Amino acid sequence: MHLHKFEKIWLIFGVGMLIVFLSTVGVSAFYLGNQPPSCLATIDPEKVDETAPFNKPGLKKVEGKDWDYELVFVASAFNYNPGQVQVPKGAKVKVIATTKDVVHGFEIAGTNINMMLEPGYISEIVTTFDKAGEYTLVCNEYCGVGHHMMTSKIEVVE
Ligand code: CUA
Repeated sequence: MHLHKFEKIWLIFGVGMLIVFLSTVGVSAFYLGNQPPSCLATIDPEKVDETAPFNKPGLKKVEGKDWDYELVFVASAFNYNPGQVQVPKGAKVKVIATTKDVVHGFEIAGTNINMMLEPGYISEIVTTFDKAGEYTLVCNEYCGVGHHMMTSKIEVVE
């Protein structure tokens, strides 16, 4: 079989790109340990109130972890627990949240934090609040008649 010179070049280029792409995905998944953010942690949505850490919502100082505080939220129609919380400025905070009933949103206005809370799953994000002030946590997934009133307040204090 005769291949034209340009065909060979393209063939080598195409196979080369495929190897580069698969190596990138492979290194990212198996060496760096990157995974899709969802479906990592599950919970029985009927037993949220009895399951740690959701049995004690709010801010908690933790030792020996990569973050300084854990901020636990339980969402349900149509509120967040806690409804108001204080967070120290500049601290590394892991936000851990879930929902007891339907899908709710978890958006902290003015930041890049925007998660979806799904029944049966735990949503997490590690963040640092660098600016003091009041932040509003809002639900941005339509969840029923009280959707527009579903908020919480996060105060970042010095
Ligand atoms: Cu909860 Cu909209």
